[in-house]
Amino acid sequence: MALTMMASCTSKLPPKAYNKGVHVVPQPNQLEQKEGTFELNAKTKFVSTGDTKTVVDYFAAKIKNASGFELATAEKASSNFIAVNVNPAMEIKKEGYTLSVTSKGITVNAKTAQGAFYGMQTVMQLLPAEIESTTVIENMAWTAPCVEIKDEPRFPYRGMHLDVCRHFYPVDFVKKQIDVLAMFKMNTFHWHLTEDQGWRIEIKKYPKLTEMGSKRIEGEGYEYGGYYTQEQVKEIVKYAQERFVTVIPEIELPGHALAALTAYPEYSCTGGPFKVRNVWGVEPDVYCAGKEETFAFLEDIIEEVVALFPSEYFHIGGDECPKDRWKVCPLCKKRMKEEGLKDPHELQSYFIKRIEKVLIGHGKKMIGWDEILEGGLAPSATVMSWRGEKGGIEAAKEGHDVIMTPGNWCYLDHYQGNSKVEPVAIGGYTTLEESYSYDPLPKELDADKHHFIQGTQGNVWSEYMYDGDIAEYRIFPRIIALAEVNWTQKENKDYTDFLRRMDNNFVRLDLHNINYHIPLAEGPNNHVAFTDSATIEFSTTRPMKIVYTIDGTEPTVDSPVYTEPLKFSANTTIKAATVLLSGKMSKARTINVVKESFAPAADVKTTGKGLKMKYTDGTFVKVADLKKATKWEEKEFTPKKLKGMFDYKKPSAATFEGYIDIAEDGIYEFSTNVDQFFIGGKLLINNDGEVKRFSRNNSSVALAKGKHAVKIIFLNNVIGGWPQSWNGPKVQFKKAGDKKFEDIKAEMLSF
Ligand code: ACM
Ligand code: ZN
Repeated sequence: MALTMMASCTSKLPPKAYNKGVHVVPQPNQLEQKEGTFELNAKTKFVSTGDTKTVVDYFAAKIKNASGFELATAEKASSNFIAVNVNPAMEIKKEGYTLSVTSKGITVNAKTAQGAFYGMQTVMQLLPAEIESTTVIENMAWTAPCVEIKDEPRFPYRGMHLDVCRHFYPVDFVKKQIDVLAMFKMNTFHWHLTEDQGWRIEIKKYPKLTEMGSKRIEGEGYEYGGYYTQEQVKEIVKYAQERFVTVIPEIELPGHALAALTAYPEYSCTGGPFKVRNVWGVEPDVYCAGKEETFAFLEDIIEEVVALFPSEYFHIGGDECPKDRWKVCPLCKKRMKEEGLKDPHELQSYFIKRIEKVLIGHGKKMIGWDEILEGGLAPSATVMSWRGEKGGIEAAKEGHDVIMTPGNWCYLDHYQGNSKVEPVAIGGYTTLEESYSYDPLPKELDADKHHFIQGTQGNVWSEYMYDGDIAEYRIFPRIIALAEVNWTQKENKDYTDFLRRMDNNFVRLDLHNINYHIPLAEGPNNHVAFTDSATIEFSTTRPMKIVYTIDGTEPTVDSPVYTEPLKFSANTTIKAATVLLSGKMSKARTINVVKESFAPAADVKTTGKGLKMKYTDGTFVKVADLKKATKWEEKEFTPKKLKGMFDYKKPSAATFEGYIDIAEDGIYEFSTNVDQFFIGGKLLINNDGEVKRFSRNNSSVALAKGKHAVKIIFLNNVIGGWPQSWNGPKVQFKKAGDKKFEDIKAEMLSF
């Protein structure tokens, strides 16, 4: 008994498949694997020279958390050591490092503490993924393969942006993101702190900015808010500094400023009053460029913000500033005249250049979105190119530094899978592979201008990121693909190998409680009708193992593996999920495959054209709320006018009833953003309570030729910041097998 107990205490856990091999991300620029391994144990010692104390302390704490080993430091060691040496005379980029792992020990050499920090992050990635654990894992073999690495980044600016205005994320969430960014050698966190929809940083001189500007009343009726105190900002900046991450604040001007103007309407053109915007999109009310007081206000704010952020850069926004108010404001017109500005674009340029001077006075470098090119670029500005690469190319040609963040690759608010099955997003479609494929050096830019391109960053606009979980779902793993874009020389990148290395790194993300995206089993809708048999074909946005069940149970890693299209001739519930090498699974999808006969046409004569519409005023968040409606009126409408009939500022609801004329027997798939869509008296699509920016929940039904009763329930409300009036009620259909959906034509409808 005693013997077996001893044996079980000392035997090591068998190695996990995801820990085999070398899986450093971003891929080091020179890496040679050697025979053998180094084993970290309780007797391993840190030996260090130069400016390394903070780095050694940081990693000693990490190692202790996961292994329980409290590693001692020593002056010298000939075996079982981790040596960290910082030597300013070393010939390497300031963030570079060399790393040697032999069976005797590990040696990291760098020019700076930051380089040593990255060398140690690589050491962590050579160890089993469990080294990221925050609790002690017993009986782990903490081995690292022997390697020789020389590594340095391709670009100096490696960033992530986070919009904390559309949705607010707590301090711990921000720290967690910074922690994980640093693991992947990212060095910049661009903090988007002010917006039309919320002001999120305490400014002591202007307390109403947070008292009023940080709160909005959502379309659903409740208050949403949050902001960071200056103490919290300092705490985050310090936390980031300890991880060699620079935090750049963004204070938006002259547009995207409605939250500030709600608190201080005197700095607008019209004087207000305003309400913090509760729908997405761009607000026409902006800072007045004609009033001196506006500049004094912004100078005061900048003075307080500058004191909190040691970063060299300061971001002033500058994007999407509508000129509607400036065109008619007497003071703005006067300013244009006095300053000889020929149009409002030049007035925007005047605005930005004045702010640039303020920042230079504080020893800061200004960054702005590429709209700051309009009307003439401020002399010292760095341009963040987001509307494609054009602005970045133009700025680099003019000799300005550029950060490339074009939407197609860098906008992490985009969908990364099929919009029919993924949670609602702002739009776009950027897969992990697309983000990975980005090259920040545009082909159109001559090589002698390449040095102006500082790097790239992932932009995380949070309209459709209602909490931290969904934000992480969008951020990861695409931000890690961009980390490799930024760090690794182009010729050393390989997407297939990146995916292999990510199998290990996903486990590290698990240990940091990151809710990363796992591709879903895409393809069929949730409800698939058939008459004879149905063929169900799954796909994924990258190569993934798919498992499924057909007995109604939740799939597990041991469920049958999907290898080819599945054929059904009876009612079946399929549940399908994807599986990572670690055994972690995606969310399971449920697909109901339903045998139907063609629903017979209704035996009716109709005389009215279109559908019969009933209308009521009032705010209805869910369909059940319609019980509260007291006064319905019948309204005439034409499908053409339909969209213009609704305005989210006058909440209402409508139902539409009548018949749709179906041309021939068939399976028909419907797609709609309306709240509920019934056909033949049955609820076919239910979007009740969802954010309906894009239609989800497509469903099919077997219909015989002829007229079928339809009913539509449409709530003209705002849910999750999306006004339904921006789409209007829309139902589309296609016959099974057809590629494209089409709008239901007016001639098909009658009552
Ligand atoms: C932006 O996405 N409006 C910079
Ligand atoms: Zn004005």
